Amino acid sequence: MQEDIKEVLLSREQLQETVAELGRKISEDYRGKNLLMVSVLKGSVVFMADLMRAVEVPCRIDFMSVSSYGAGVKTSGVVKIIKDLDIALEGFDLLVVEDILDSGKTLHYLLEVLSARRPKSIRICTLLDKPDRRQVPIAADYSGAVIPDAFVVGYGLDYHEKYRNLPYVGILKPSVYGGEE
Ligand code: IMP
Ligand code: MG
Repeated sequence: MQEDIKEVLLSREQLQETVAELGRKISEDYRGKNLLMVSVLKGSVVFMADLMRAVEVPCRIDFMSVSSYGAGVKTSGVVKIIKDLDIALEGFDLLVVEDILDSGKTLHYLLEVLSARRPKSIRICTLLDKPDRRQVPIAADYSGAVIPDAFVVGYGLDYHEKYRNLPYVGILKPSVYGGEE
């Protein structure tokens, strides 16, 4: 796996610090609220597992699965709900936890669907943000790191379902997906 990585963007230690900082902010902002953290499968699972333990206020969790990319590296623009939430959103302060905000299409669609269910509030927390790639106007309320326009894997993020178990976030060598160096 390691040999397919061009450059480490966020080391294990940097990720720990980033997540701890996000956890502090979220704990401050959600004191006295009714926090429900929703993780968008599968990419945000590792982030979610760490982030929820960095949050010091009571919270509930749930999971949702949508498809936006299929298996490749470019967005198709098609977003489909594969697995919906188990919890009804009314009365909850919803925090959507994402791995990466890229074109923004996935979250744009999700926000529309979720806000129609009338949660008390709704915010976005993304580990990574690639603002250069945005195609729809959307911004995260909490963002771990802004990264350049490159395809990254690890810490939950995949290419063809591979590399999710890398403990760091790294740039995938373009030769792996037939791109240019
Ligand atoms: P968006 O709809 O273009 O914002 O895409 C968001 C989703 O695309 C993320 O939740 C990821 O699953 C996937 N994605 C976008 N960029 C990358 C990347 O660099 N590496 C791995 N997955 C990515
Ligand atoms: Mg993916």
